[in-house]
Amino acid sequence: MAILAMQDVTLKDKVVMIREDFNVPLKDGRVANDKRIMATLPTIRYALDQGAQVILVSHLGRPKEGIYDPALSLEPVADLLTSRLKQKVVLIKDWLNDFSIKNYNKTDIILLENIRFCEGEDDNSPVLAKKLSDLCDVFVMDAFACSHRKQASTYGVIEQAKLVCAGPLLLSELEALERALKNPARPLIAIVGGSKVSTKLSVLLNLSKKVDKLIVGGGIANTFIAASGLAIGKSLYEPAQLTIARTLLQEMNERGRPITLPVDVVVANELSENAVAQIKPINRVDKDDMILDVGPDTIKTLRRDLEGAGTIIWNGPIGVFEYEQFSAGTGAMAMSIANSKAFSIAGGGDTLAAIDKYEIDSKIGYISTGGGAFLEFVEGKKLPSISILEQRCQDVLK
Ligand code: 3PG
Ligand code: MG
Repeated sequence: MAILAMQDVTLKDKVVMIREDFNVPLKDGRVANDKRIMATLPTIRYALDQGAQVILVSHLGRPKEGIYDPALSLEPVADLLTSRLKQKVVLIKDWLNDFSIKNYNKTDIILLENIRFCEGEDDNSPVLAKKLSDLCDVFVMDAFACSHRKQASTYGVIEQAKLVCAGPLLLSELEALERALKNPARPLIAIVGGSKVSTKLSVLLNLSKKVDKLIVGGGIANTFIAASGLAIGKSLYEPAQLTIARTLLQEMNERGRPITLPVDVVVANELSENAVAQIKPINRVDKDDMILDVGPDTIKTLRRDLEGAGTIIWNGPIGVFEYEQFSAGTGAMAMSIANSKAFSIAGGGDTLAAIDKYEIDSKIGYISTGGGAFLEFVEGKKLPSISILEQRCQDVLK
């Protein structure tokens, strides 16, 4: 189904409400990582350039509804936006009771205070959704990162607003994900790392049907190694997921696309900054060992695999890259993805931290702003905000 793009809507002299995801980490009252905010600037600038009066909406953190919490105010976001856009961003605290757009100049960009302070946001209250939709002529959904949430500002407002469309950030996220998952240049290689199989089980199941090669890392790999019958010592793994891991290993073998497991690993007796690392073949892991990274032979294979890829989907580190002695695997993988000619797409909090650490931002085909939303899309789920947007756009695009 098609979605109406913001660029195809007349915005001049319209009040345009844009839902963004400014859910960013804060430290000492300031924005600690501005990536999500930077990604929204082209959308906001475009609306301003078209002569729209802009109202921005976002959530921040998970406050208790109905209670104002200064620690989760969008004030640091308003400050950052003001400096990046070089135009005043006015934060409106009590917009539910005391706000009229007529009292503001067109050059003032309005930012409504953390929408999750309002009762009814989480439960997708139609009353709150109507309050939002009544404020604008056009509603732009641009917040891919929370499009998996069926809430008043991501769903209800789309049902009720006079005219709805998708912002360029949302559309570019969808295009990149579709390029990687629907019609990928082959071979398609997925790397799924991180700590737990259980949190990424649906991702693994969906990807296993689509990819030419599935590489697992981190605690997830440990569960697969254990499922293949090898000793993993004290390594983090999930006994409850062994059966499903075994099934997946077998299925992929039968398809002639065996899951790539490490042939050697880096182990230590403890997980700490000063832990002493040792390289071992995968069949020599002792009972006191914790597997914390992949070894040099595995890295060689990884490099070769990624070199020949047509498309790479990357979610999750393959070792404890926060500590130098366990970072070689994730580092080598990051550099191989960066140097590969493949179209690459990466998403998820830890993955973005790795991209930052190895400074390969500009070499990744697409970096998603989504964490949970990225994973749900990769799982093959329909994201509620996207579905309602498609439904509402149907009439206009007919
Ligand atoms: C995210 O950071 O994943 C999104 O902003 C959604 O936030 P939530 O998980 O608190 O709904
Ligand atoms: Mg989240």
